Amino acid sequence: MKIAITGANGQLGKALAATFAPEHEVIALGHDRLELASPAAIGQIVATGATLVLHPAAYTNVDGCARDPQLAYRINGLGTRYVALACQQLGAPLVYISTNEVFSGAASQPYMEYDATGPINAYGVSKLVGERAVREVLPHHYIVRVAWLFGGERNFPRTVLRLAASPPQGGMRIVADEVGSPTYTPDVAAAVVQLVQTNCYGTYHFVNSGVCSRHELALETMRLGGFSHVPVAPITLAEFRRDSSPPPYSPLANVAGEALGISFRPWQEALAEFLATNAER
Ligand SMILES: NC(=O)c1ccc[n+]([C@@H]2O[C@H](COP(=O)([O-])OP(=O)(O)OC[C@H]3O[C@@H](n4cnc5c(N)ncnc54)[C@H](OP(=O)(O)O)[C@@H]3O)[C@@H](O)[C@H]2O)c1
Repeated sequence: MKIAITGANGQLGKALAATFAPEHEVIALGHDRLELASPAAIGQIVATGATLVLHPAAYTNVDGCARDPQLAYRINGLGTRYVALACQQLGAPLVYISTNEVFSGAASQPYMEYDATGPINAYGVSKLVGERAVREVLPHHYIVRVAWLFGGERNFPRTVLRLAASPPQGGMRIVADEVGSPTYTPDVAAAVVQLVQTNCYGTYHFVNSGVCSRHELALETMRLGGFSHVPVAPITLAEFRRDSSPPPYSPLANVAGEALGISFRPWQEALAEFLATNAER
């Protein structure tokens, strides 16, 4: 296959490119080659002649999205529509990477693929607009919701290790009432390889198995990183002031993927592999 990947230099984009490259021709559409905020993106993607398009690119700065919801809409909403329109012209299926933040976080059980969405912040709204555009424009689509990604350079476990190595004055404080599904980017990439062979178009939740709070994730990261001796105070979301409000409880259940035989290992195993092979302090 000839596979175009948006956001190819991002955390998940890099994992997708590395995983597909040995068997396929990968066309890496980094931000330097493709601007999602411009309708010119349609022609640029069509010009690649891709037979499959993977679309992990997004404006992922959730606080930035809260400060400028119009920009979030233009990149994540309209930009995704341009990608879908390009796929329509190419006759190519699309894998759109979406997020746990399309949900409100008011649940008490992990979200199923069919659960009602209800984003509570501008980032989640913009990603949901992207989902709707994909569904409207293109029957041959996979919408893959992921969550709490780690695998590249900028992610929560890396931040925790940096803080642990040089704790701020007053000590480390991590939110304990935000709960989710930590997810390793190479595991998502391997699952996407399996998914695109099925032709079972639809919506999927691709996350490592298991559920934890940010505080629990920080403790496990520090244990694996050799920082168990550094104290970490649990705080509440209300105490952690930021421009965006994350959904408090947004673990995802991978039910549709499991039905196709696509399953994920526990997040603790994936985290251990990530830290053993990638972490730089
Ligand atoms: N990270 C998470 O925890 C998380 C959780 C749930 C869902 N997701 C979703 O998973 C996907 C991948 O996330 P990630 O963590 O890999 O993100 P990332 O590392 O921030 O990568 C996103 C990529 O998109 C590019 N990009 C940003 N604005 C663009 C624009 N206007 N036009 C073209 N490209 C643009 C970025 O390029 P520049 O850096 O050069 O701007 C970057 O390479 C995203 O769709 C995100 O919504 C992520």
